[in-house]
Amino acid sequence: MFSLPNKVTIIEVGPRDGLQNEKSEVPTEVKLAFIEKLQLAGVEEMELTSFVSPKWVPQMKDAQEIVANAKKVGRQFVLTPNEKGVELAIQANASSFAVFVGVSNSFNKKNINKTTQESMDELQPIVGKLLEQGIFVRACISTAFHCPYEGAIDSKKTIELCRKFVSWGVNELSVADTIGMANPKESYYLFDALLKEFPNTLITAHFHDTRKMGLANILAALQAGVNRFDTSTGGLGGCPFAPGATGNVATEDVVNMLEQMNIETNIDLDLLIEAVDTIEPFVSRPIETGMYKLSKSK
Ligand code: HMG
Ligand code: MG
Repeated sequence: MFSLPNKVTIIEVGPRDGLQNEKSEVPTEVKLAFIEKLQLAGVEEMELTSFVSPKWVPQMKDAQEIVANAKKVGRQFVLTPNEKGVELAIQANASSFAVFVGVSNSFNKKNINKTTQESMDELQPIVGKLLEQGIFVRACISTAFHCPYEGAIDSKKTIELCRKFVSWGVNELSVADTIGMANPKESYYLFDALLKEFPNTLITAHFHDTRKMGLANILAALQAGVNRFDTSTGGLGGCPFAPGATGNVATEDVVNMLEQMNIETNIDLDLLIEAVDTIEPFVSRPIETGMYKLSKSK
């Protein structure tokens, strides 16, 4: 018999993962309105934006304005893969940082133009300095299960990369099924192993929903003991350098499932649907998540 947590923390990644792969250009003021609606719905941790090359990811080119103008509510992350991004984010007064590295070398090369080892070598002193200043750092581990270029990833390689970040003292590991290929059995075993080996580090699961196994993977991770999930309102998202991947599992569907299971999220589902209403007219594909469709059919 398994036990489930009474409370789960949702880390909303819609404004970052959700919009980084958008075909249409979402105006900065719409992104800010989306962020505000998410805050009103009760989201306490959020990835606001990323400091990456505007040539590679033009959708995130307004990172400075987003950080400067978003209301300061709860823990707010900016994503960055390198020193330049950290410098720019510090100038913008970003408060918490998320760095990202792929377990798969081929993916990391496509995403960041460096091998995994080169990224780790660049990040170690930067992360060290952030942590010394008491700044919260999460490490996002991409292609933890499968890679679009190399196929299945050996979980030992994922755990080894996590071990390095934990040895640096990062506060959180966000372990990602980048292209939505993991199944619940794999999810259970990987998260069970991570929770057992790293009891003093926050462990978060980040699922993309390509094969519609996102909720099942979340249930499996819950059973292993995970109580933090990255999700994206509207089910938006995907990495521009991970072909074939769809969005993250939708926040509204996760909140609904958890509420039904009497697991607290502190997020108001009706207000979350208002956040979807805010972003829906500005994204290039219709939003078809379960709870959103239901809310429209009432
Ligand atoms: P590069 O071309 O090798 O970079 O790209 P470079 O170091 O040669 O610099 C080229 C130019 O970019 C220079 O400017 C730099 O200053 C500038 P120039 O002299 O030509 O004017 N530059 C930057 N500008 C702004 N912010 C920066 C930055 N760094 C350099 N941080 C680079 C290397 C890493 C920049 C590029 O590959 C890049 O931006 N990659 C980001 C890719 C990305 O954003 N991917 C999506 C996020 S990860 C993700 O979605 C996965 C996740 O959700 C978990 C999961 O699901 O797996 C987290
Ligand atoms: Mg992602």
